Amino acid sequence: MTRKPFPLFQTPLDLAHTYWQRLLKPGDHVVDATCGNGHDTLFLVHLLSQFSPQGFVTALDTQLQAIENTRHILSTHISNDFLDHVSLHQQCHSVFPTYLEKGSVALIVYNLGYLPGGDKALTTSSSTTQSSLAAALSLIKPGGAISITCYPGHEAGKLEEDMVLNFAASLNPQEWSACHHVWLNRRQAPSLVLLQRSHI
Ligand SMILES: C[S@@+](CC[C@H](N)C(=O)[O-])C[C@H]1O[C@@H](n2cnc3c(N)ncnc32)[C@H](O)[C@@H]1O
Repeated sequence: MTRKPFPLFQTPLDLAHTYWQRLLKPGDHVVDATCGNGHDTLFLVHLLSQFSPQGFVTALDTQLQAIENTRHILSTHISNDFLDHVSLHQQCHSVFPTYLEKGSVALIVYNLGYLPGGDKALTTSSSTTQSSLAAALSLIKPGGAISITCYPGHEAGKLEEDMVLNFAASLNPQEWSACHHVWLNRRQAPSLVLLQRSHI
């Protein structure tokens, strides 16, 4: 008999993937607000491509390198059919593409920090992340969610996590569920914030 891994969820991203799987439905529109090397975008595309209708993924990043890396990983792992269901944008997530209508998006994903393998100075920042989260709230459809992976292991990342936690804690509990998953016995471990909009 094979044992389940210990701990059951190895990282915040592992937990996030399970959450995304439970949340998404056929035809959903999803936004990856920090596509980086494209791993999260690819995971989301795989999830949606199992459904009919298949849905749509919008992916954003400020860096051209990230957009190219995401385009490359998608083109090597998914069929041309589904590439028509993905739109990549080199832009800051503080402003979302105008085709995204209010209340139309099932999930917006943030994986904060810098591009792995890239310039560590080009990282997400508290001010633009906060503007983006404020804009993201109105895009989420009833029952949809915002998933934010934070990296408090360095000073700027800790400040950014504090901002995200304050933002989450200020949300109206009638309208939003706001929770934070953190490993209490792992020092400076990444953490996961999940904000779900009520169905009403
Ligand atoms: C930790 S990486 C994302 C990893 C990615 N999700 C993956 O699966 O490979 C963070 C990304 O956020 C991007 N970023 C930083 N500031 C941004 C902003 N204001 N708007 C959009 N993306 C930003 C960085 O360029 C970097 O690629």
